[in-house]
Amino acid sequence: MDGRKMRESEVNMGHLMQPNQANVAGNVHGGEIMKLMDNTAGIVAHRHSRTNAVTARVDELEFMKPIHIGDYVTFRGKLTYVGSSSMEVLVEVFVEDLSKEGSPERALRGYFTMVALGEGNRPEKVPRLIVETEEEKKVFLEGEKRYRSHKEKKSRS
Ligand SMILES: CC(C)(COP(=O)(O)OP(=O)(O)OC[C@H]1O[C@@H](n2cnc3c(N)ncnc32)[C@H](O)[C@@H]1OP(=O)(O)O)[C@@H](O)C(=O)NCCC(=O)NCCS
Repeated sequence: MDGRKMRESEVNMGHLMQPNQANVAGNVHGGEIMKLMDNTAGIVAHRHSRTNAVTARVDELEFMKPIHIGDYVTFRGKLTYVGSSSMEVLVEVFVEDLSKEGSPERALRGYFTMVALGEGNRPEKVPRLIVETEEEKKVFLEGEKRYRSHKEKKSRS
């Protein structure tokens, strides 16, 4: 396939936080959330590329709110940029205390660069990203800037 639309690979996953995911104070471990974010990014990348993808990089991972046992947590992943074999996925995490009124609040976010692997576990070309709205174009151009900056850093190291 030549191209796939940006919104086609969006993923939303919900999890109820369990006692075995928390420390003694009742806060969920950051690593637990990072793992679920990585899973979300992996599903988005797999859906776009239709092949297995590995995590090559995580950028701007920001913890904005604590998450507690019993909170309902939603992971939303969407593509922001696609290179040749790499795909950048924005993963946002929303937290909701089910026993209180109010909308879910954003607790974390981060950009995951996933690389599609083909035969011999080598990077494989993926479909291009079709952007349709002005907002999608803006997101894509910002992703492209980060992609170019990573390439430049890699070529200097
Ligand atoms: C990701 C990996 C396959 C890239 O291999 P590589 O030999 O560097 O491949 P290339 O140089 O051809 O790069 C392939 C793509 O990955 C991107 N890439 C590679 N390293 C990157 C990095 N550190 N940050 C961002 N993008 C990166 C390149 O920009 C390129 O993108 P493009 O094809 O869209 O232009 C390799 O580094 C790897 O296997 N890493 C371990 C991944 C892993 O196991 N993750 C799970 C963690 S336990």
